[in-house]
Amino acid sequence: MKNLDWASLSFGYLPTDYNVRCYYRDGKWGEIEVSSDEYLKLHMAATCLHYGQEAFEGLKAYRCPDGKVRLFRVEENAARLQSTCRGIVMPEVPTELFVEMAEKVVRLNQEYIPTYESGATLYLRPLLIGTGANVGVKPSSEYLFMIFATPVGPYFKGGFSSNPYVIMRDFDRAAPLGTGIYKVGGNYAASLKANQLAHEKGYASEFYLDSKEKKYVDECGAANFFGIKENTYVTPKSSSILPSITNKSLMQIAEDLGMKVERRPIPEEELETFEEAGACGTAAVISPISHLDDLETGKVYNFGEKPGPWSTKLYETLRGIQYGTVEDKHSWTRVV
Ligand code: PLP
Ligand code: COI
Repeated sequence: MKNLDWASLSFGYLPTDYNVRCYYRDGKWGEIEVSSDEYLKLHMAATCLHYGQEAFEGLKAYRCPDGKVRLFRVEENAARLQSTCRGIVMPEVPTELFVEMAEKVVRLNQEYIPTYESGATLYLRPLLIGTGANVGVKPSSEYLFMIFATPVGPYFKGGFSSNPYVIMRDFDRAAPLGTGIYKVGGNYAASLKANQLAHEKGYASEFYLDSKEKKYVDECGAANFFGIKENTYVTPKSSSILPSITNKSLMQIAEDLGMKVERRPIPEEELETFEEAGACGTAAVISPISHLDDLETGKVYNFGEKPGPWSTKLYETLRGIQYGTVEDKHSWTRVV
């Protein structure tokens, strides 16, 4: 194990020893290559640089108290990347290749998997880019798929603690029939300004209403939203939100815990009725929302300064499964 101060890590980039790469050329994927270079040599006309032919994923490797290292639902990340590939016309990365590369990059960098006690994890960032030179707007015929790994701490300072969010009506993250359901860089570019303004105003992150009508709840920064009332877990159905694997898992866990689960459009007014609310995603796991401000209407939706009982139970169960301390009855984890 490297001698790093694991507990002080933030969600940033630290170099590790190796990344893994695979090139798509002549209509097929090549052999997996191991690299210790943090840089890429790219053609200046590569389609990823000009036309946003870029997709990524995010997942974590957990060093567990039983001494094993686990990945969480890696096949789901592969499936989501395949959906993104179909969305922006890139060749699909086969699930077996994705999983093999994920396992390989974890094994190669095992000295960088943080200790269980630190609460930090090894974050994997799969990246797929169009590398062929084109000046006309069309998909590349050559691609690079790679995965790098970096140890990370909590996405929000304080980890599992409640944070305020702010509704940003002047910005759209994604259009209703656009790329919001795909994990492409352009969606994040579209969010940077709103995110910066939210931070300047002292909020953890920005919060989006639907782009078309500004009436329904959409995404919570770079995370999905859920609200809880009357023992029911409610999460938005929308054509512009990223299908979060954390959210999908929480819906199942909520059901397992005896809650009702609803996935449907959530009108803004309904926010008032939730007893608890949170943002969820790989990076933040669950980040409970203390209050959500609508600066335009002056409305403040309060969900409590501390994580509520259901959010806490959901968080503890999900973390327990990820770390192998709670029974993994849906076979979500894979020992590396
Ligand atoms: N929504 C957006 C926009 C994201 O970037 C992410 C992160 O991947 C999520 C939601 C959460 O998805 P997941 O739980 O699969 O990490
Ligand atoms: C998430 O994992 O929840 C994210 O939103 C990843 C982010 C760093 C892009």
